[in-house]
Amino acid sequence: MMPFRAQIHKNLEKIEDYQFKIIAPSHGPMYNKPDFIINAYHKWVFDEPKNIVVLPFISMHGSTRKMVDCLVSALAIKGVKVEQFDLSVTDIGKLAMALVDAGTIVIGTPTVLTGPHPVVAYAAVLANALRPKLKFASIIGSYGWGTKVVETIAGLIPNLKVEIIPPVICKGQPREVDYQALEKLAETIAQKHQENGFK
Ligand SMILES: Cc1cc2nc3c(=O)[nH]c(=O)nc-3n(C[C@H](O)[C@H](O)[C@H](O)COP(=O)(O)O)c2cc1C
Repeated sequence: MMPFRAQIHKNLEKIEDYQFKIIAPSHGPMYNKPDFIINAYHKWVFDEPKNIVVLPFISMHGSTRKMVDCLVSALAIKGVKVEQFDLSVTDIGKLAMALVDAGTIVIGTPTVLTGPHPVVAYAAVLANALRPKLKFASIIGSYGWGTKVVETIAGLIPNLKVEIIPPVICKGQPREVDYQALEKLAETIAQKHQENGFK
């Protein structure tokens, strides 16, 4: 339902004044407890994003993984909930569900043939199609000699109306300066979530 939020919004307003006992959709089961369904739609459509970062990532040789671990710990210390998805084993439906409430997406990828790893590109395309309520996005990852990972991912997510927080891309294994940049990224995300009242 995520991409149809605007239409659902209008339709929820239309039915506000009606008293009804049953919801009989054009397909699927009938519901005799309409409040349960209507309340769920209200939550999905009207609620602000939550204090959650969704972090889909993959790592071939462990560098991006180290960056992910650092960012996750730094965010946790700052009270931000993180849902991380190792895309080599993730059920993509679970990633889609996590996107319903998240305030920020951070995409973690090594550079492969100048762009993101293909499974990361797939996850980015999915997030773009779902148009979740996300307000912020960033990218972290490692490269070897030359990368266009940030530009490529940015081009894959035009539907996401997000503010991009400066990415952290490092050469090879992350070093002290990269860990500091990840700490800073966590701080910025926590601050933006707080300023926006994400609970
Ligand atoms: C198949 C393959 C393609 C790669 N292509 C590039 C590339 O185009 N540009 C680059 O800078 N590094 C490239 N690399 C190097 C990786 O991005 C680099 O080793 C990175 O540190 C891996 O991160 P990871 O440890 O998280 O997997 C490639 C590596 C592999 C295995």
